[in-house]
Amino acid sequence: MTENLRKLVEVQINKELWSAYLYLDIARFYAAHGLAGTHSWFKKQAHEEVEHAEKFANFLHELGLDYQVLPIAGPEKTFKDFREPLVFQLEHEKVVTSLIHNLMKVAKEENDYASEEFLRWYVSEQVEEEANAAEAIGLYDFYMEKEGIMAFDHRMGKR
Ligand SMILES: [Fe+2]
Ligand SMILES: [Fe+2]
Repeated sequence: MTENLRKLVEVQINKELWSAYLYLDIARFYAAHGLAGTHSWFKKQAHEEVEHAEKFANFLHELGLDYQVLPIAGPEKTFKDFREPLVFQLEHEKVVTSLIHNLMKVAKEENDYASEEFLRWYVSEQVEEEANAAEAIGLYDFYMEKEGIMAFDHRMGKR
């Protein structure tokens, strides 16, 4: 792996951990409003993001490469209603997808076959992440039209 790609992966570890921060904050927001199911849904999401970061870190380690644990700023976003974090999540996942695609592009340009192979998992994972985020918005709209927020929260708790 080139130093160029190693640095991008180092930044990606930070982005994944920042995603975990963001989802923990969203989980907190729902918990603060008594929505335990949605709280649990986002906590699981946050744990997945930590796993994404660890997977990148392990990959560097396997290659005998070191990395810095870069600082993570707290999320500054505040939410006005229960739908907003769901939309924000989808937007955020789209940004992460573009970062993963950039990593893949660089790996290809550098003929780094091992990294390409490794990154393929993240490419598929992002398809799933965006689908899950879009599904949550769909569920919210569906339940709000029919049974209301508690039914939505109950459904989110089933993840
Ligand atoms: Fe992630
Ligand atoms: Fe994600």
